[in-house]
Amino acid sequence: MSTSPLHAVAHLLDTSARICVLTGAGVSAESGVATFRDPDGLWARFSPYELASMDGFLANPDRVRDWYNYRRAIINSVEPNAGHVAIAKLEKMFGASFTLATQNVDRLHQRAGSIRVLEVHGNIHENRCNGCHGVRSDDELTCPSCSGSMRPNVVWFGEDLPEDVFAAAEEAARTCDVMLVIGTSADVWPAAGLPYTAKMAGAQIVEINPNQTSLTPHVHHVLSGTSAVILPQILEAMT
Ligand code: APR
Repeated sequence: MSTSPLHAVAHLLDTSARICVLTGAGVSAESGVATFRDPDGLWARFSPYELASMDGFLANPDRVRDWYNYRRAIINSVEPNAGHVAIAKLEKMFGASFTLATQNVDRLHQRAGSIRVLEVHGNIHENRCNGCHGVRSDDELTCPSCSGSMRPNVVWFGEDLPEDVFAAAEEAARTCDVMLVIGTSADVWPAAGLPYTAKMAGAQIVEINPNQTSLTPHVHHVLSGTSAVILPQILEAMT
């Protein structure tokens, strides 16, 4: 009897010890949070240069802060979806042998029950001082410690990723048996390099995405579909 691609991935997870998951905006799409590069995505409607770069912030801090408050309001109004819940269940099943690295800043993974989340692009719910890099959860515009400008605690284009967080994600990519790459166009480096790091270290790479990406030709298993549908089906098919 031939095994379906989904059952082959379920069997792979059943027979693997160390699992790494890399997620992108697609995993939050079924919660109602827009992705970036889909036809109806944020970058189809807004300018990444104006709204997600230091130059854009320095040129018009109020416009950037308003845009992030607009995104925060949407994120606070939605719920995690079945894909987030399935990923949290995988963490419970694999314990310390499971690592979730996300490019998302919405913290829907945490709201779905994920505990250890490597936020390689920061998170939208905090602000960070441009001067002393102090992080605050309130909406102070000026840093009380050094009077620097407070900006969203997310990684903008041209900025470095949090070094310790990305190092942990790279270590997980190097040591996992399977990497699930879920809901990402896999085009924004260095996060997009994680699947290649895992593959070079001998891991099986699984892509879960309704569309093809630049990563698709390089993976071992392609599950074409949406994460809120496919991930629960994978868990259902695991023994
Ligand atoms: N389930 C799974 N994947 C989906 C779904 C879904 N329901 N809907 C869309 N997708 C896929 C799209 O096909 C696309 O490949 O999710 C991917 C989203 O890609 P992007 O919008 O480019 O988002 P992402 O890959 O997370 O972007 C990476 O770019 O702008 C920066 O910092 C931002 O973290 C972001 C980074």
